[in-house]
Amino acid sequence: MSATDTLTTAPAAVAEAGDPLDEQAIRRDFPILSTEVNGRPLVYLDNAATSQKPRQVIQALVDYYEKQNSNIHRAAHTLAARATDLYEGTRTRAAAFINAPDSREIVFTRNTTEALNLVAYTWGLEHIHKGDEIIVSQMEHHSNLVPWQRLAEAREAHLKYVPLTPTHKFDVAAFTALLGPRTKLVAISHMSNVLGTIAPVQEICRLAHQAGAVVVVDGAQSAPHLPVDVQQIGCDFFAFSAHKMLGPTGVGVLWGRFELLEAMPPFLSGGSMIGQVQWQRSTWAPVPQKFEAGTPNIGDVIAFSAALDYLTAIGMERVRAHEREMTEYALHVLKEDHPDLQVYGPNDLDWRGGVVSFNMADLHPHPHDVGQLLDDQGVAIRAGQHCCGPLHLALGAPASARASFYIYNTRADVEALSHGLQLVKKTFRPRRRP
Ligand code: ALA
Repeated sequence: MSATDTLTTAPAAVAEAGDPLDEQAIRRDFPILSTEVNGRPLVYLDNAATSQKPRQVIQALVDYYEKQNSNIHRAAHTLAARATDLYEGTRTRAAAFINAPDSREIVFTRNTTEALNLVAYTWGLEHIHKGDEIIVSQMEHHSNLVPWQRLAEAREAHLKYVPLTPTHKFDVAAFTALLGPRTKLVAISHMSNVLGTIAPVQEICRLAHQAGAVVVVDGAQSAPHLPVDVQQIGCDFFAFSAHKMLGPTGVGVLWGRFELLEAMPPFLSGGSMIGQVQWQRSTWAPVPQKFEAGTPNIGDVIAFSAALDYLTAIGMERVRAHEREMTEYALHVLKEDHPDLQVYGPNDLDWRGGVVSFNMADLHPHPHDVGQLLDDQGVAIRAGQHCCGPLHLALGAPASARASFYIYNTRADVEALSHGLQLVKKTFRPRRRP
């Protein structure tokens, strides 16, 4: 048995093909879900920020530090070989998870933000020139926006925005109209962390490539929730984070087409990423080591394998189906119980993932107050701009409250949210004078 085989971590809840996901069995794998918050059972609806972790992932991390801890790719001893095998095992699993043709195309970073910065500072600085155009959409997270703003500024290029349609979908016609001979880069979020909007990335890639542009897909919200196949999408780069998909914090993945990665200069330089170092010059290690300078986050990368195994055993089609059902139920319950709520994002569930952001139109409590009052009842949501300042400008809302779902959420969680909002209303409704 190789070291990587020791990470077999099938969830308790693997069902027969075609069966829906068994969220009650899944919940038993997540110790934190039996925690109480403010004297109430935790209802965790902040999954777009970070997911909870199953005991299989927690155990993989403990096992690493108890049995395998060593630096990788260096020493000639057994532990180092074991740790290296496990680390490279995650690379192979991550490649399979997104159907990358070659595991050498998987680069480990700290998070999606670092992965996107890597592209901006290497491919971007080499290929974007004065007068070139970079296209993003209005629904981008700051991590898929600010690096391109800085690149555009450094190169005197132009940043152009695809607007949303009135129903908060990605506007393909407007995108097509923005494409031109100076378009060099298109950077699009696969799924919005505020609206839940799923962008038609396959069509975006086809149109962008016809115009000669390279496409970066921010998959931070899609890889955890949708089946992802980078070959089918046809993108050039795809970035995602482990911590939003049951894995530990501090691990991101950049996938890039091999020939692009090979032609790119390094991002960070130092140990581990070199070929030969002489007095004045150095050469680089092959891809992907060229982009993994210094000792990486070994233990967390290794534990990420357990998360990938867990999701793979459930099946991403089943994950998607469960979240679609949760979203449909949430939209229905919120509409029935709270007709005054302004809910953002498309109603068409083919184009929406498990994110429901809203404001209370009549009473105007600040979303932070909504979050605080829900927290008093054990319901965890996020409030604010969710790292999407320009999107909130486009929505005409200073901020919003957001509930987001994952594999362990149930209809009872949606009902707890709705009940919590009744109490928020009671707190904010003006009292009649006697
Ligand atoms: N991007 C994460 C969120 O949307 C942090 O909450």
